[in-house]
Formats: sequence, C-alpha cells, structure tokens
Amino acid sequence: MKPSLILTLLAAAAGLAACQPSGPTRSPAEISAHAATLKPADPRLAGLYAQACKACHAMVGTLAPQTGDREAWAPRVAKGMPVLLHDVVAGFKGMPAGGQCFACTADDDKALIRFMADQPVS
Ligand code: HEC
Repeated sequence: MKPSLILTLLAAAAGLAACQPSGPTRSPAEISAHAATLKPADPRLAGLYAQACKACHAMVGTLAPQTGDREAWAPRVAKGMPVLLHDVVAGFKGMPAGGQCFACTADDDKALIRFMADQPVS
C-alpha cells in the first residue's frame, strides 16, 4: 500500500472519530422524561413551576429547552439574564407572555430560569 493511501485512510478514520458524540446521546423523549422528575427545592417555586413552566419545559415535542438539559440551555444562557427575563415576560416565539405564570415575580422567573437551565445565569 502506498504511504499516501495509508495517510488518506488514517485521515478518514480520524474524521469519522471526530463525528462521534463524546457522551451517551439521549433521545428527546429521554430528556423530557428526566425533566419530568425535576422540581425546584423551594415549595413556592415548585408550585409555580408545576402550574406553568413544566407543561412545556418538561414535555417532549414542545420545542422548549427541557429542564436540566444543560446543552439545550447553553445558547440561551449565553444571551444573559436580562434578555431571558424579558423574553419570558413579553413572550418568545412558542412561549406565551409570562410563560403562563400570572403569579410569578421577576425574582421568581429568574429563579425558575436558573433551575431549568441547571447552570449559573447572569
Ligand atoms: C406554553 C409553553 C411554555 C410555557 C408554559 C413556558 N415556556 Fe418557556 N419556552 C417555551 C418554548 C417553546 C420556548 C422556545 C422558544 C423558541 O426558541 O422557539 C421557551 C423558551 C424559554 C426561555 C428561553 C428564551 C430565549 O430567549 O431563548 C426561557 C428563559 C423560558 N422559556 C422560561 C420559561 C419560564 C420561566 C416559564 C414558567 C414561568 C416558561 N418558560 C413557561 C414554551 C413555554
């Protein structure tokens, strides 16, 4: 075999390896099933979450980033808390204004965003 062919094969193998996901990939149904098991530790927040955000953010097929799905939340978190808070209050694409939570204060919304994103949001 010519050295150039071996190099080509090696490069192709490396390219394939690079396409493999690093961790176990979860299906959307698995991600939502996991989301459905999570709730905020604070009882008041847990109540607000269960009555509003959870209906979409722990439901497969809603296009909402799922609770605890850190990867799905990462690009949202990158927008920063002021933008995210504004989007919840005003409504954003498939999300109705206030995220359907009429009792939520701005502090509640911030806490719910941090809980769902499962990472610091500033
Ligand atoms: C009726 C369904 C629904 C409910 C209820 C809901 N959301 Fe959402 N939410 C969505 C969808 C769908 C998106 C993704 C919109 C898109 O990017 O297309 C979303 C996106 C978001 C985002 C990201 C916004 C951005 O700028 O990327 C935040 C933050 C958020 N929701 C917070 C909340 C909070 C907090 C609650 C509860 C108070 C809530 N949502 C309730 C459907 C919902």
